[in-house]
Amino acid sequence: MPHIKRIGILTAGGDCPGLNAVIRSVAKEAMIAGLEVIGIEDGFLGLIENRCRPLSRADVSGILTIGGTILGSSNKSNPTRHATGKNPDGSPIFSDVSGPCLQAIAGHRLDAIVVIGGDGSMTVAHQLWERAMKDGVDLHFIGVPKTIDNDLCGTDITFGFATAVSTATEAIDKVHSTAASHHRVMFVEVMGRNAGWIALHAGIASGSDIILLPELPFTIDNVCKAAMDRSRHGSRHSIVCVSEGAKPIGGEKIIARIDPTSPDPIRLGGIGKYLSDEVEKRSGLECRHVVLGHIQRGGTPVPADRVLATRFGHHAIRTLFEGKRHRLVVMHKGELADIPLTDCAGKQRLVDPSDRLLAAARGVGTSFAEA
Ligand code: F6P
Repeated sequence: MPHIKRIGILTAGGDCPGLNAVIRSVAKEAMIAGLEVIGIEDGFLGLIENRCRPLSRADVSGILTIGGTILGSSNKSNPTRHATGKNPDGSPIFSDVSGPCLQAIAGHRLDAIVVIGGDGSMTVAHQLWERAMKDGVDLHFIGVPKTIDNDLCGTDITFGFATAVSTATEAIDKVHSTAASHHRVMFVEVMGRNAGWIALHAGIASGSDIILLPELPFTIDNVCKAAMDRSRHGSRHSIVCVSEGAKPIGGEKIIARIDPTSPDPIRLGGIGKYLSDEVEKRSGLECRHVVLGHIQRGGTPVPADRVLATRFGHHAIRTLFEGKRHRLVVMHKGELADIPLTDCAGKQRLVDPSDRLLAAARGVGTSFAEA
């Protein structure tokens, strides 16, 4: 075991259910092994602003079931490109503040940092590590992959995804009865960025009639046709589960907002309303839409996420104790493993159009409104 006495832990990027379960797993196992654990607040922002605090056993007890993160998170804190002011036109001024981050790391005598985050956070960790190496600072980073979107390369599953799917499914189940009462076509927009995993799983689990994914080009006319066919055959309502990144052939993804201070500035949203209006116009069927939004990121993690988060945390500590540096904990074919930290950077794991789940959905008559 390398000489590791103190570790830092941070949660970066968008939150998701199960973050606290990983913090608990990492911190408890480290503490039992005699290490000191420092909690870094609000992701990398806590390093930039030197907001770090020692964690006690009491701090990490009773948090397994709690949503969010006791450490806070930020999705706009890349130390190598941090917004430190504004130009006269309002655009942000970026500066490299990795120097102060390394000073904070040295000040707290951290031998390693466990970064719980997505691909962007792993890239940031890598950039900090490169800078540390240049300055002759020996620092280990171990990554734990999180996102409700389940779109990280290198791992078959991320914690948070199962809870988001469960939340979306429960919501769509509720939409069913009101859709049936009013004979409406209901569009339920779910999250996922450019990946359709949440829409695919929640769509199948809720028995949605039409599922629209970013990975499968569809036409609005085919959405109308699928809903009208159902209507003609006696099912006077339809449920459409649409991923926020879905777009009809010839159309563009709908952007809800752009945050120039964020490393990933585009926020998708609005396709549900757009399709609801268009389908009502073209088909004459009455339509409504609902955007599930951040509800999918909240709440207590489902048992599968609690277990996965605990296993990821355990593997992160084992990886560290084995003297490995710069690894990302992953789940591959049901087994825990670790890969180079940056193997997931800049890539997204999207739904493969030949995925067998699609065939299973088609088997029960689900439409993807494909061209
Ligand atoms: O990546 C997680 C996610 O919830 C996406 O599904 C969604 O597009 C995005 O984050 C929303 O980000 P924000 O919390 O910044 O609005």
